Amino acid sequence: MIELKNLTKVFRAGGKEVAAVDSVDLQVPEGSIYGVIGSSGAGKSTLIRCVNLLERPTTGQVNVDGQSLTELSEAELRQARRNIGMIFQHFNLLSSRTVYENIALPLELAGTDRQLIDDAVTPLLKLTGLEDKRDSYPSQLSGGQKQRVAIARALASKPKVLLCDEATSALDPKTTRSILSLLKDINRELKITVLIITHEMDVVKTICDRVAIMSHGKLIEENDVESFFLNPQTELAREFVRDAINEKPVSELEDSFQPEPFAGSRPVVRITFVGQKVGQPLITQAAKKYDVDFSILQADIEAVHGNTMGFLMVEVSGEEAQIQEALDYLKVHVQVEVAGYVS
Ligand SMILES: Nc1ncnc2c1ncn2[C@@H]1O[C@H](COP(=O)(O)OP(=O)(O)O)[C@@H](O)[C@H]1O
Ligand SMILES: [Mg+2]
Repeated sequence: MIELKNLTKVFRAGGKEVAAVDSVDLQVPEGSIYGVIGSSGAGKSTLIRCVNLLERPTTGQVNVDGQSLTELSEAELRQARRNIGMIFQHFNLLSSRTVYENIALPLELAGTDRQLIDDAVTPLLKLTGLEDKRDSYPSQLSGGQKQRVAIARALASKPKVLLCDEATSALDPKTTRSILSLLKDINRELKITVLIITHEMDVVKTICDRVAIMSHGKLIEENDVESFFLNPQTELAREFVRDAINEKPVSELEDSFQPEPFAGSRPVVRITFVGQKVGQPLITQAAKKYDVDFSILQADIEAVHGNTMGFLMVEVSGEEAQIQEALDYLKVHVQVEVAGYVS
């Protein structure tokens, strides 16, 4: 549905060149909700702005719904952009227009007649829960309501793709959940492909099907969301996952952890599993079978992409050989990684 091929965007500022996006390949499957996560300055906004050519890529290809956007004429591009809605962190509503008029704006600009505009806007007010705010002005709305208006406006031209740049970053957690749930409904009911740029793992965890991680303009890791949580490959991905599961910062843990085993040391292992019932019985079984003890240092259960996932940090004590066998036994069923050694 969205395909970026070897996409690069170089900015020239103050005599210096910055590759905000550097040789990125990305495929967003039709009908999916796809997240791109990364720290501030990673190039996420530049990347998403290249998808509708708000930013022209320096090199590379942007294909949306089978069309190669960089090869279109201005008129063709205007038409193609009607297929691509976009929402932003700061909503970008027009303060002099009512909710209804804000939503109607893209259709007015396209010269759509009044009746057709009304036919499009009325159901969008309902979809976004704004029927009673129809004639309010943006200044009279909460942040969540403003984002709902922006979403309705983005959907007015019946796009196939919705681009979201930090759409929930200015909202409180409860409002964030309601907006994410609205995006999920839109994805399912209107069959719209959603590309989300965010620095918040909660967004990825709650609604994304797949996720990619960006660092210094490069896409460094890509996976389905469960695998990303279960088995992050890069250090940055691991940091994002640890943050999402409220694991203590590495710096705090490292104070007591040694990287290598030493005389009399015990391993501390991270155990990650999918499905609420999996973790506890397995650990009990391993403890009995191999006569070792597991003491839980940290535990967290999270709903990830609709599945329950467990994250445990446990200290294992017993005979060295038995510990190894117990860990090998666990590895058959769950993700096990040695985090360090303690005395
Ligand atoms: N218009 C611009 N001119 C020059 N540099 C820019 C411009 N837009 C972004 N950048 C630079 O590109 C890099 C990526 O920015 P951005 O895409 O906004 O990152 P993110 O959205 O991940 O925070 C940053 O170093 C930023 O300073
Ligand atoms: Mg940004």
